[in-house]
Amino acid sequence: MTYELRDLTDTVVVITGATAGIGAAAARQLAEAGARVALGGRRQDRLDTLVAELGADRAVAVPMDVRDPADNQRLVAAAVDTWGRLDSVVANAGIGMYGGILDHSDEEIERMMHTNYDGTVWTVRAAVPALLAAGGGDVVIVSSVAGLRGGGDEAVYAGTKFAQVGLAGALDRELREHGIRVTAIAPAGVETEFALGYGRTEGDPALTAYLRDDDVAFTIRTVLQQPRAVRTTLWALWSMGQQS
Ligand SMILES: NC(=O)c1ccc[n+]([C@@H]2O[C@H](COP(=O)([O-])OP(=O)(O)OC[C@H]3O[C@@H](n4cnc5c(N)ncnc54)[C@H](OP(=O)(O)O)[C@@H]3O)[C@@H](O)[C@H]2O)c1
Repeated sequence: MTYELRDLTDTVVVITGATAGIGAAAARQLAEAGARVALGGRRQDRLDTLVAELGADRAVAVPMDVRDPADNQRLVAAAVDTWGRLDSVVANAGIGMYGGILDHSDEEIERMMHTNYDGTVWTVRAAVPALLAAGGGDVVIVSSVAGLRGGGDEAVYAGTKFAQVGLAGALDRELREHGIRVTAIAPAGVETEFALGYGRTEGDPALTAYLRDDDVAFTIRTVLQQPRAVRTTLWALWSMGQQS
């Protein structure tokens, strides 16, 4: 039996948090694999730059805030209006702040919870009708190893990431029979702009052992390329330099 990866040519993928890090790397790798990508994020200048790099035939962008349900609807609508369908959604947007339960302001805690958990719910909820209309597809949720076992200096962040893993598991049970695969991806530390100023410092030597944004993007691409007869519901990944 031959076992081949799925061809992603002209499949349509929505990606949130596409202005930086993992989301931008995923956009590049998926476009390279032939997919068309609809990019969400708040920073318009970065969205414009990425669309120019990937080409307007391959990428469309919507300035949006994942905390706003209507913004997520607009992002999905842009994909469907432009290319007539949606095959996959990558709920990737997120923010991180290190610190104990007393270390953040109320506003910071709300921002983390609303962005990481509520934002994921709104993105998936906006995308599912279009995935059902396409006869199935993929939901990929970028959580973290912090969502598998939280560290002592990141309780609130870890809680949001556990919530994403729980959401993904429950959605798998809800959506599998409709041909929608739901996968949670749980990377260890990745060298991106993430948490800079909130516990990480640019140029910190510890970051050199971290995963690269492209390592996680490659995992996202691999999830989408799996033959549709199988699903892997949870991927955890570390670099060879990181202790598990
Ligand atoms: N870096 C790590 O060590 C690590 C490890 C495990 C998991 N993760 C997870 O990976 C995901 C991506 O993180 P990253 O490392 O790529 O970080 P990053 O480089 O800081 O990128 C974060 C992305 O999320 C977007 N974003 C943040 N708040 C948003 C909002 N309210 N609405 C829309 N977009 C928003 C940002 O875009 P705008 O600012 O333009 O809106 C940016 O594109 C996150 O969910 C994070 O929890 C990261």
